[in-house]
Amino acid sequence: MVVTNMFLTEQRHRYDEKQLNRCISLLMRNRVCDGSSATIDEARFQAEALKDMLGKKCGYTLGHSERVAHYCSLAGKNMNLTGREIKILAMSAQLHDFGKIVIPDSILKKPSSLTRKEMKLIRTHPQIGAALMEISGCFSDLLPGVLYHHEQYKGGMGYPNVFGGDEIPLYARIIAVADSYDAMTTDRPYQKGVPKETALERLAFGSGSQFDPKIAASFVNAIGTVSKSVWHFPDLRQEPLLPA
Ligand SMILES: [Fe+2]
Repeated sequence: MVVTNMFLTEQRHRYDEKQLNRCISLLMRNRVCDGSSATIDEARFQAEALKDMLGKKCGYTLGHSERVAHYCSLAGKNMNLTGREIKILAMSAQLHDFGKIVIPDSILKKPSSLTRKEMKLIRTHPQIGAALMEISGCFSDLLPGVLYHHEQYKGGMGYPNVFGGDEIPLYARIIAVADSYDAMTTDRPYQKGVPKETALERLAFGSGSQFDPKIAASFVNAIGTVSKSVWHFPDLRQEPLLPA
């Protein structure tokens, strides 16, 4: 998969320019290898470096990413993924929001609802994250999970809105479920977290529309249980469970 850096050039003026320039020069300086030839150990080393950069920008996003990685590992084990697959999945999850590194703080940390324009900008974070990771020579297997973690299973409603159903890369489909679960169960400046049981019910409700139904089921099994009556396909007009 090739992520074009044209995207960065086109959108540049919209991001925190200083942070973007600093980020690009740091990533280019620390480029350790060609992403496609990285070993799993090199990949882990790169992922840790990128994660540290993200943590300096936003402690909440780092904590969220660590929790999402943990939930992904639990779901991956429940789905019988191999040890190597689980490692790649967890590293992808740790970096799934890396693109938020260049979103201005006034938007990223805004304590109230985002405007349509702000929402549009924040919704570029999967593409910018993948483009920046590519610049760093990041292990190429980590990119699909980052780039497509906001796609929706039913298609046409997620972003960047390229794939739907099983065409969405597997790691991205797993991250989507774990991401929503963490977003629902933690307090954010503009929204209080819901109890675990409520979040699992909402995942079950969104299976087949927002989420891959098999993955939603594996996730719920790995984390807890919900009543059978909750498992049905929702009206597609429902609002997505994730805020951004
Ligand atoms: Fe995200």
